[in-house]
This record gives sequence, C-alpha cells and structure tokens, in this order.
Amino acid sequence: MNKEQLLTQLSQVQTKEQLEARYQSYLGKKGSITTEFKTMGSLDPKAKKEKGQLLSDLKNSLEAAYADKEQSLSMTEINQLLEKELVDISLPATPAEKGHYSLLVQTRREMEEIAQSMGFIVATGSDVVTKYENFETVNIPITHPATEMHDTIYVNKQDQRGENYVLRTHTSSAQNYVIKKYGLPIKAVLPGRCYRFDEMDATHDTMFYQLEGIYIDKNVSIANFKNVITTFLSAVLKKEVEVRMRPAFFPFVEPGFEIDARYEYLDQKTGEKTMSKWLEILGAGMIHPNVLKEAGVESKEGRTGFAFGIGINRVAAMKFGIKDIRYFTNGDLRFIKSFA
Ligand code: DAH
Repeated sequence: MNKEQLLTQLSQVQTKEQLEARYQSYLGKKGSITTEFKTMGSLDPKAKKEKGQLLSDLKNSLEAAYADKEQSLSMTEINQLLEKELVDISLPATPAEKGHYSLLVQTRREMEEIAQSMGFIVATGSDVVTKYENFETVNIPITHPATEMHDTIYVNKQDQRGENYVLRTHTSSAQNYVIKKYGLPIKAVLPGRCYRFDEMDATHDTMFYQLEGIYIDKNVSIANFKNVITTFLSAVLKKEVEVRMRPAFFPFVEPGFEIDARYEYLDQKTGEKTMSKWLEILGAGMIHPNVLKEAGVESKEGRTGFAFGIGINRVAAMKFGIKDIRYFTNGDLRFIKSFA
C-alpha cells in the first residue's frame, strides 16, 4: 500500500479504538512498517538507504496523521457530549407567576413599620384567650352588658375557671399580656386577628384584623396621644390628616374617644382642593386604672398612658378604595390579581 492509501485509511477511521488498531497494524510491534524496517538488514547499502528514507518518511507522516486524527476524534467526542447536555441560556425563561401579600397583610405590615419608626415595639397576643383575658383584664365585668357588644365565638374547651375559651373579640385583650411581659414603661402595637359572631356584610366579617396601640410612661397625656395618632394616620394613609376627638365610652379607658380623620384631596370634577368628610377611624382613650391594676402595675407612680384600637380591614379598604371588605378574605382570584 502506498503512503496516500495508508493516510486515507487513517483519515476514514471513526473511533479511537479503530484508530489505535490501525496504528498498531502499521507501526505496532508486529505492524507492517515495523516488519519492513526489520527486513532491511539484507539489502545492499544503497537500497537500504533508499528504503530507510522511504520508511522513515512514511512513519513520520503516519505518526503526524495519527496525532491529528486523535485530536479531532477527541474534539468530536467533547462536542457530542456538550450537545447532549446543551441548555440554551439565551432562550426566554418560562415566566413564573409571582404572588403578593394579601392587601390585609400588606396594610398590617406597613402599619407595623410606621409604628416601629415611631418607637413602638410590635408584639402579639394569642387568638384564643380566656374570658377573663378578653373581658375582665380590660375592665369589662363578664356580667356587664358590654360583653354583649362583642358577639363572642366560644371554643369548645374550658379554662381553669371552668369557662370556655373564646376567640378574642378585640386586640385590647393583649394589653394585659404585653404589660405583664414587658413591664413599664411600654410603647407597643399589638396587631392580630379578632373574631365576632357577626352577620357578614360589606363592612362586617367574622374574622378581621385590629391593631392595638399602648403607650404608658411618665406624664403621657391626651395631647401626646393626639400628636401620635395624627402622625401615625398621616403616614398610614399617606395624606396629611386632620384629627377630631369625640368623647365615647369604652370600659378600658377613661376618658375614651372616638377618633375621626379627614384630609384634603383634589376634587376630580371641579379640579379644586377639597376637604374630605370626617371618617370615623378608631377608638382610643387614657388607659383605665383598673386595666393597670389587673396587669399589676397600678402602683408605678406617675405612669399614665393611652391606648387605641384600629381596624386594619377598615384602613385597607380606605387605602385601596374597596367597598366590600369580604373581598379581602374570600379568595376571589380576579380581585387578588387586580392588585398584583
Ligand atoms: N377594643 C375596641 C373595639 O374592638 C377598640 C378600642 C377602643 C381599643 C378604644 C382601645 C381603645 O384600645 O382605647 O372596638
């Protein structure tokens, strides 16, 4: 076989095994070219020289071709592997649907953050409480008609007094718990779920969120409260609000107030700045001595404080312009997605 034929053969090889076999058959120990080298001894010097050159040339060419071929087979192998494992990172990804917090949670968190920025800590009580905690710790005797203001949902399990546990009807019940836990002075907001056996309609739900606030320290006054609540509401509603306080009765405060707020807005029709109606937003007051007594801190001299309770659903409804608060919790995806 001449050189060209041998080189063509090598170049047609498909695998490394075949390549190796071919190589051995020419240049291995018993390979044809190796054998020919061996038979050269019997030739005369001139022929020997010619044959020697010819064979060396052939050997060199084959070795070079072998090396080339081996490299190209290795490349092919790598490319095939790469192709098998190919991920095209330039392809657009399948979009993942991204969720978001419910409007209630969003509003609660925002209110917590604002309160924190004003120096309040965030604490939570329990959803399931004793009748004692829900009512008596905040100065509502169980026999008092005020307990009926709260259409209570009872739990089928009894406490030490043999009374059924209740789902708390307001976050005010957590006041006692946090005062006992942290002592005085205290400046805290207590957000959480509340439950009432109410007829459900556009403004009532059996489960809703409140945020209770308490601030007890030396010389905390009604003026302090008005300032705090005006700042807080303005930040929550992202408007500069004006606050009005009306006397009201809540057993856990004395005096008690109902707080209304209003703010200036741009009337879309007239294009003029207009004052909104007064909106009833929350209940508040100066903490009743009995509440402090029940928490074991009445004797801390000169400590007074205020408390307020605000409905988070109501605030969220105002912020997002929702007419029916049942949308917050009924899981209607069309509603949820429209706020993504
Ligand atoms: N607990 C009251 C309610 O559920 C709200 C409230 C009113 C809380 C006055 C307070 C307060 O702390 O001082 O309607």
